[in-house]
Amino acid sequence: MQVVVVNEKEALSTYIARDFMNYVSGHNRVVFGLATGSTFTGVYKKLVHQHQNSNLSFKPVMTFNLDEYMDLESNHPQTYRNVMNRNLFDCVDIDKRNTFFPPIKKNIRFSVYDDMIEKAGGIDCQYLGIGVNGHIAFNEPGTSFTSKTHKVALADATREANKRFFDSKDQVPKHAVTMGLSTIMKARRIVLAASGEKKAEAIRGMLYDPISEQMPATVLRQHPNVVVVLDRAAAQFLEEGEYDTTEIFGAC
Ligand code: F6R
Repeated sequence: MQVVVVNEKEALSTYIARDFMNYVSGHNRVVFGLATGSTFTGVYKKLVHQHQNSNLSFKPVMTFNLDEYMDLESNHPQTYRNVMNRNLFDCVDIDKRNTFFPPIKKNIRFSVYDDMIEKAGGIDCQYLGIGVNGHIAFNEPGTSFTSKTHKVALADATREANKRFFDSKDQVPKHAVTMGLSTIMKARRIVLAASGEKKAEAIRGMLYDPISEQMPATVLRQHPNVVVVLDRAAAQFLEEGEYDTTEIFGAC
């Protein structure tokens, strides 16, 4: 695992946006795994800015989002489809037919999503956030490392953390469909981003705790090509010398 620490969240967004743009400019066709949540909001803002003010085109891009809530109306502003449309897809020249979310209809085999990813040639780069409890996507503590896309009951800590997007915690869905840990581990490269002191303990656990299903993010230590990008607050429990520090210059 390569660990990179930048000064603050703005620099983290710039680092990830540049990473994304390098992929797009270097390939005729690229398949990304994408995350929602506040860690990536600034990244998407920068990508939209680059599309509008520079020559960044999303025409070669295909995307598979990590997860989707169950039991929300399709026009609810907090479905991850609607969040991604608002923050990115509606603002760039991506072909929306190339943007995918886990299937949330009942009576469906959720792992059909794994088949779709495989049919697309697999994920070139998977962008991930991390939950305060060490979840990646919505794979909560206790999820099998062999899991494919599946339905989950969201942990109380996750519903508590995500209530900021809803009027109250009661309104946060109790279930979601998420890529599984084995789905994520199949990506050719993984970039995990975390910002702020609330994530520091999860980052410490991911890097130093025993590899265990009780701490889902530890599975990433078994992947050969992972970059962890942190701001100083999220990196506060790391020893200096255990990571590269990078100064980020320029807006994007
Ligand atoms: C979202 C997702 C989650 C978030 C994580 C961090 O698609 O899969 O794992 O990445 O909960 O969320 P934020 O970025 O809001 O702190």
